[in-house]
Amino acid sequence: MAKARLDRICNIQELRQAAKRALPLPLFDFIDGGAEDERTLARNVAAFDRYALLPNTLVDVSAIDTRTTILGEPIAWPVVLAPTGMTRMFHPGGERAVARAAAKAGTIYSLSTMSSVSIEEVSGLTPGPKWFQVYCFKDRELTREFLQRAKAGGYKAICVTVDVQVAANRERDRRSGMTIPIKLSLGSAFQFAIRPFWCLAYFTSERPILANVVHKIAEGSVDISTVSAYINRQFDPSITWSDLEWLAGEWGGPLMIKGILSPEDAKRAKSVGAHAVIVSNHGGRQLDGAAAAMDALPRIADAVGGDLELILDGGIRRGTHVLKALALGAKACMIGRPYLYGLAAAGEAGVDRGLTLLKDEITRDMALLGARNVGEIRREMVTTVP
Ligand SMILES: Cc1cc2nc3c(=O)[nH]c(=O)nc-3n(C[C@H](O)[C@H](O)[C@H](O)COP(=O)(O)O)c2cc1C
Repeated sequence: MAKARLDRICNIQELRQAAKRALPLPLFDFIDGGAEDERTLARNVAAFDRYALLPNTLVDVSAIDTRTTILGEPIAWPVVLAPTGMTRMFHPGGERAVARAAAKAGTIYSLSTMSSVSIEEVSGLTPGPKWFQVYCFKDRELTREFLQRAKAGGYKAICVTVDVQVAANRERDRRSGMTIPIKLSLGSAFQFAIRPFWCLAYFTSERPILANVVHKIAEGSVDISTVSAYINRQFDPSITWSDLEWLAGEWGGPLMIKGILSPEDAKRAKSVGAHAVIVSNHGGRQLDGAAAAMDALPRIADAVGGDLELILDGGIRRGTHVLKALALGAKACMIGRPYLYGLAAAGEAGVDRGLTLLKDEITRDMALLGARNVGEIRREMVTTVP
């Protein structure tokens, strides 16, 4: 996309539209969609409307400081990039582009276990702080190996995702025939054919792979379908808190649990040694009908807010969403789709655009809220509305 057109994009919603124009529909739906009726996906965004801001007026807001820290790591603004798998399918820049954009924007990039660029390569790409997202796989040796590689790569913390006990029912993907690797059917071939720029970029660049696990597959059969089948067999529905304890012990560093929605689970997270909780329903992609992350946040903040750092993940589309989450007890927010839309629309420049838009909104909205720094965003600054 030309720079002038990208610069005219005003908000994340418009970036989403640009992504829709750039991607074949099955791929757009894969990013954009959620589980079953997508109620949780919709609620994640709508929940922010149940809270209204109560600004402090006549505060000198000529200097706004958006900086904060999360798990001791200084970041330029209270948003970090969530882990998302296989991003080279959306744009050849993939994880490389996103990691670079995060470093430029002064924030943390979380690399997914399911990334299409390896732990080692992303580690060396930028001096920016990084987290590694890990699943506790059936193959505990492989899980341990991930932790060792993340440690060797200088990843500052791990986030253990606990809401993928089994594969979700994503009906958009079933309808569109979306699979990894991409398999064309008569119906979907048309959707790809009408996106020739994406096809050209995809078929002329190195094919995406599950870069962290290719070595587990016998040499000579590293095609992604073999790797995908292998990884699907690795999800372990029998994981419990004692496995988390094992994982925390193996890692021995800052650890977050991603996918917590209840105060009881947040308390248990603390008891197994977690330092932070990511209040999340996987962006509405797993259990449809689960509470919106923003609706779960206040009770979790009441239960463990003094002991654990909280990250609100899911539904952030505006700077004001971030301010509301901070007011209700989050230390920072995570975004997934907002940067993926940017990546799909225009590669690294698109991610830059999405991050700039959100950061500018946060800065402007803090001034309008009468908060000169993130510490001044307090619970009294939000009220619930019917
Ligand atoms: C295409 C896509 C892939 C994702 N892959 C992963 C993943 O590999 N691991 C993970 O923990 N979460 C994954 N997520 C969930 C995100 O980390 C995050 O929880 C979610 O996107 C937040 O909601 P939002 O998109 O509304 O910001 C993925 C999300 C999307 C949209």
